Amino acid sequence: EKGGYEHFMLKEIHEQPKAIQDTYRGRLLRNEAIIKMAGIEDNMKKFLNANRIIVVACGTSWHAGLVAEYIFEDLARIPVEVEYASEFRYRNPVITENDVLIAISQSGETADTLAAIKLAKSKGAFVFGVCNVVGSSIARESHAGAYTHAGPEIGVASTKAFTTQITVLTLIALRLARAKGTISSSDFRQHLLELEMIPGKVEQALKSDDLIKNIANIYKDAKNMLYLGRGFNFPVALEGALKLKEISYIHAEGYPAAEMKHGPIALIDENMPVIVIATKKGHYEKVVSNIQEIKSRKGKIIGIVTEGDVQVRQLADHVIEVPESLEALSPLLTTIPLQLLSYHIAVMLGKNVDQPRNLAKSVTVE
Ligand code: F6R
Repeated sequence: EKGGYEHFMLKEIHEQPKAIQDTYRGRLLRNEAIIKMAGIEDNMKKFLNANRIIVVACGTSWHAGLVAEYIFEDLARIPVEVEYASEFRYRNPVITENDVLIAISQSGETADTLAAIKLAKSKGAFVFGVCNVVGSSIARESHAGAYTHAGPEIGVASTKAFTTQITVLTLIALRLARAKGTISSSDFRQHLLELEMIPGKVEQALKSDDLIKNIANIYKDAKNMLYLGRGFNFPVALEGALKLKEISYIHAEGYPAAEMKHGPIALIDENMPVIVIATKKGHYEKVVSNIQEIKSRKGKIIGIVTEGDVQVRQLADHVIEVPESLEALSPLLTTIPLQLLSYHIAVMLGKNVDQPRNLAKSVTVE
């Protein structure tokens, strides 16, 4: 059942090219240059008239929501707020009939996310679900939705659910951008083309496995790690840190790279590995200067870079390359090495990768 892999998590990491493809198949029609999603078409007015989109989710799904915030605002020019479902529901939030709430949940059973939906519905908001489990509670409670087609995710640490959530949310953002006219037809076509190339590029990124294993071996005994990213890749830094915490029990924090100087930089010394997402286009020069700041304090630098990168390679202790893509799509690639790094560290430390202590696959308690 693990398809020859040692753990479900590793199997699911490797399933991502197919999971992403399954998620856009039938929706992304490149020859016609359209995106077809019934849940969006049927409710187009609601989306186009929305004052804002509120995303509610927990954990990894919340990170996918943060990536979506960057994509929606950039492509479709719709204001987005991303909320932890648990905080949102308990703070007497301002919700109106002109709000669209997108709930993201792999399991579709997360209690706080479900409760947030019910609250939003009671205030008259339109609720759109992005779930992986068909017929789940959140899918049923939503007014409309779009499934991720990741297939069953068994490993407690979410991997393919995350990348397929980003895929669905990207499709939605592109569809809305087209409807609103905030993207040109040539840009739209280019995004479709590049999205179709993502599965092959994920495949390519997975080939760094041996290199990542070596890096894992060097840093597996670290007590702390810092993950930095900017823009579209800031949420990927958060997700990388969460993956490490969950399965290896090493303390890790994700930060927007530019925030480092406002506090976390105090932590940096020769014992602090810092994973920096430094792909081209994503404020690259700024990230390079962040890397210099870390280096001058003797921090160990693991750079996640675009294929062929030279500048970061000169500064970093290690670099892991991912193929080039559009900036908005880069989280689908930069996530991959971070998943593998956590996986290998956890295996080397002898941890129970698929069922980490204290965690459950779906959190049905509040
Ligand atoms: C992280 C993880 C959790 C879930 C969170 C939300 O690897 O698995 O953080 O992402 O509990 O779960 P869903 O998406 O099922 O609502």
